[in-house]
Amino acid sequence: MNSIRNFLSVYDLTADEIYDILSRAALLKADRTLGSGCLKGKKIGLIFEKSSTRTRVSFEVGVMELGGYPIFMSPRDMQLGRGEPIKDTARVLSRYIDGAIIRTFEQARIEEFAGYFKKPVINGLTDLYHPAQILTDIFTVYEAKSKMRNNTNKAADAIAGDAGDIIKNLKIAYFGDANNMANSWINLQAVMGFELVLAMPDGFKIDDLVAGESQKRGGRFAVSHNKIQAANNADVVTTDVFISMGQNEEQAKIDKLKPFIIDDAVIDNAKDDVIFLHCLPVHRNEEVTEAVFERFSSIVFEEAENRLHVQKAIMEMLF
Ligand code: CP
Repeated sequence: MNSIRNFLSVYDLTADEIYDILSRAALLKADRTLGSGCLKGKKIGLIFEKSSTRTRVSFEVGVMELGGYPIFMSPRDMQLGRGEPIKDTARVLSRYIDGAIIRTFEQARIEEFAGYFKKPVINGLTDLYHPAQILTDIFTVYEAKSKMRNNTNKAADAIAGDAGDIIKNLKIAYFGDANNMANSWINLQAVMGFELVLAMPDGFKIDDLVAGESQKRGGRFAVSHNKIQAANNADVVTTDVFISMGQNEEQAKIDKLKPFIIDDAVIDNAKDDVIFLHCLPVHRNEEVTEAVFERFSSIVFEEAENRLHVQKAIMEMLF
């Protein structure tokens, strides 16, 4: 049996494994020294074909805190950037390092790398998915809602509550492009079973493969072209930049998405204890108003910090 585990999409984990990661992340957050020997002697490669602040640094720091050694590789400095095939890069690197985190373009490219690498691979963002971010987001939601419910400031105490009870009863409303974050919310919904509404302009379409896979797994999501209705009674309101990395800055696309900006009207129509999430970097007054962003900035930057804790829990499980 092949015992190598990859995390290329949310579907590589079961719901129980995701709950384990959430619980473990809370403990790792409470004590940054926990698990410090877990990756002892392991060399973990980070191959990033696109820019990154949070993903790169949180994974590098996470590997170091778990006792491993991160090796950052940019195609600018590798033969990969001069046309060496990804499958050859994978076969070479698998002889040197113990695991890899990849940020790249097509999902097929990371899948090809993983096929030849034969050691665990984690998706640090592709055009199709951003699974490490989405687990962080659900952890941040769970942490915030647990703190409210249990009246505690400690994530580890709060997270000891009933995760399933909280997560399954959420209404999450995503606003914006049908991009890798929208797709990842759809994946997560199919596994965890909360209510998901995607608010986007008429004519914007969820990837057929993403929608089909969700349906096959019993997932359910709604697409709305009315942002106020989409926000109605939401526990979580979230968005992403309108133009993702690698896409052309199309003014026509931005103009279509503009009405879906998260503003006070959206927040006022959600639940009183709604939280706003943004994976960052933010384009103020494009996908969210400056006022809404700043009102929820403490949770947004908590979300950024949580990348570290959640990814450490993922790496413990996989590496
Ligand atoms: N959210 C996110 O992936 O941020 P970076 O692009 O900075 O890694």
